[in-house]
Amino acid sequence: MKPQIIKTIICLALLAAATAAQPARPIKPSDIGFDQRLDEQVPLDLAFRDEGGKTVRLGDYFNRKPVILALVYYQCPMLCNQELNGLAGALKALSFEAGKEFEIVVVSFNPRETPELAAAKKENYASAGAAAGWHFLTGDPKPIEALTQSVGFRYAYDPMLNQYAHASGIVVLTPKGRVARYFYGIEYAPRDLRFGLIEAAEERIGSPVDQVLLLCYQYDPKTGKYSATVMKSLRLGGVVTVLGIAALLFALNRKAKAAARKVKPASYCFLPLGWPFSPVFIQLLPDASSFAGEFDALFFTLVGISVFFIVLIAGLGLYFVIKYRRRSPGEIPPKTAPSVPLEVAWIGIPLLICLVIFVWGASLYYRAYSAPKEAMEVYVTAKQWMWRFQHTGGQREINALHVPLGRRVKLTMTSEDVIHSFFVPAFRVKADVLPGQGRYRTIWFEATKPGRYHLFCAEYCGMNHSGMIGWVEVMRPQEFQAWLNLGGAEGSMASSGLKLFKQLPCGSCHKDDGRGRCPVLEGLYGKQVRLEDGRIVTADENYIRESILDPKAKVVANYEPIMPNFTGLLSEEQVAQLVAYIKSIGTQQQNTLKE
Ligand code: CUA
Repeated sequence: MKPQIIKTIICLALLAAATAAQPARPIKPSDIGFDQRLDEQVPLDLAFRDEGGKTVRLGDYFNRKPVILALVYYQCPMLCNQELNGLAGALKALSFEAGKEFEIVVVSFNPRETPELAAAKKENYASAGAAAGWHFLTGDPKPIEALTQSVGFRYAYDPMLNQYAHASGIVVLTPKGRVARYFYGIEYAPRDLRFGLIEAAEERIGSPVDQVLLLCYQYDPKTGKYSATVMKSLRLGGVVTVLGIAALLFALNRKAKAAARKVKPASYCFLPLGWPFSPVFIQLLPDASSFAGEFDALFFTLVGISVFFIVLIAGLGLYFVIKYRRRSPGEIPPKTAPSVPLEVAWIGIPLLICLVIFVWGASLYYRAYSAPKEAMEVYVTAKQWMWRFQHTGGQREINALHVPLGRRVKLTMTSEDVIHSFFVPAFRVKADVLPGQGRYRTIWFEATKPGRYHLFCAEYCGMNHSGMIGWVEVMRPQEFQAWLNLGGAEGSMASSGLKLFKQLPCGSCHKDDGRGRCPVLEGLYGKQVRLEDGRIVTADENYIRESILDPKAKVVANYEPIMPNFTGLLSEEQVAQLVAYIKSIGTQQQNTLKE
C-alpha cells in the first residue's frame, strides 16, 4: 500500500509540476486534496443523471443506509480506476454487501462526461462482481461543485494535459447524508471500512463482535485510519474484569443459595449492598456466638460501603471518560470553577461515614473485649504447640474446650513460650496470647448454638503452628454439668492452688492475721492496693500473676521487697491455680463481710 501512496503522491506532484510550468494557469499542490468536513451535511437535493440518463436526486440513494461516495472521473487515465479497483477489492473481503447494508455512489466531477461513459464503467464493475449497490452518476457543473465542496474535495483541471489533478479517497456518509469518515489513498483496509460503515450507520449494522472491537479502535481523521487506542483497550479490560468478578460472585452465590435462606439481614444502611456476599461467607463459617451477628453486620456494612464506592467511582470514571472524551484534536475544554458545595460534600460525607464506622466498631470492640463480671472463667495456657484449658472446678483439657450453651464464658489466657493467638471463627473471637511477664489477655463469648467449632492458633508460632488447632464443644447446660462431674476428679483449681500455697510455702510470710512479713491475701482480690511509690492499682488477675512472677515490679506500701521471684519455678497452670486460690479467698472474705 505504501509504495502506491508514494506513487500517487509523485504522480500528483508531477501533475502539479507540469501544470506549474504553464504560466497561464498554474496548479499549486494546495489546489488538490481533502478538507476535513466531518459531520457536514451533504445537500441531498442535488440533481444528477444515472447510467441510463435519467435525472435523479442524490437523496434517492440515501435510504436509511450509509453511503460510500467516490468522486472520480470516468476517463481518468489512472488514479480513479485504481481507486475504484481498491474499493472493489476491499468489498470482497468485507462481509457487508453493497446494496444491502450500504450503497456506493460514484460521481464524476467532470461535467463533460456522459451517462454512456458511466454505464460503461458500471459494466466494468458489474463483471467484477459488483452490481446492484453501485451507482455511477454524472452531472452539471453546479451540482458537482456543490457536492465536492460539501465534502471538502479539491481538484483542478489541467487544460494542457486535458486531465484533472485530484486527490484520491472515499467518503463514508451517514444515512442522513452527513460526512462520517474519510479513507484516503487507493486501497482501503476492509476492517477500517467495516468500522467506518458501522459507525456511520450509527451501529444499526454489524455484529456484537464489531461493537467490542470498536471499543478498542478509534478513527483518526488525520490519517483516515482506525488504530488501537490504549485508553479504549484499558476501558475494555476494566469492563471484562468487572464482568469476571460479577460472574464469579454470581457463581459462588448460587452455590450458597441454600445457606442464604437462613440469613436475616439487619437493616443497616449499606448492609443490603454487602449482604449479597454473605451467603458464601456464612456457608463457610457458622455464627455461633451472641456477637457473631453484630460483627457480621459491621463487616458486611463495610463490604457494602466499599462495593458502593467502587461501583460509584469506577462507574463515574467510565462514564466521564466516554462523555467528556476529546472529540477533535483541537478541542479545548471550557474553564470550570471549583464548586464549594461539591467539595464540602465530598469531604463531609466520607467523614460522616468514617465516624459512623468508627463509633460503631469501637463500641462493638469495647463490649466484645471487656468481660462481664458474672462470666464463667476458664484459664487458657498456650504453648508450642497446644492449647491447655483449666476450668475453675479443676477439669483440664488439651486442644478441646467444653463450654455450656447460653452462658458467658471468660477466658484468661497466657502463653508459656511465644506469642500465639486464640481464634474461634464461629464465635468471631480472636486475641493474641502473650508470653512471659506479659499480661493475661481476657476475652469472652456466649455460645448460642450447640455443636463443635474449630479453634485455631492465628499467629505463626513455629514449625507446628498449623497443628495448633482444636475444638470448642458447646453443650447444653445439663450435659455440660454431667461432663464437669465426670472430669473433675483432681479437685478445683482453687484447691490445687491452696495445695501449692502450702507446699511452697507462701503461708509463712502471707499470714491471714496481718502479722506476717508480706501482705494479707484474704479479701485482696478486686481491691485497691497502694504501692510504695504512691500508685494505686487494682488487685486483679494480672496484678496477682505479676506479683508471683516478678514481685519487685509492684511493691505494696509499708512492705519490704523480700518475696523471691517464682519465674521458672511455676508453670503457667500452677500460677493460674494460685491466682484462682487467691481469688477464691478474696471472694469468701467479701462474702463473709456481706453476711
Ligand atoms: Cu500457636 Cu500458631
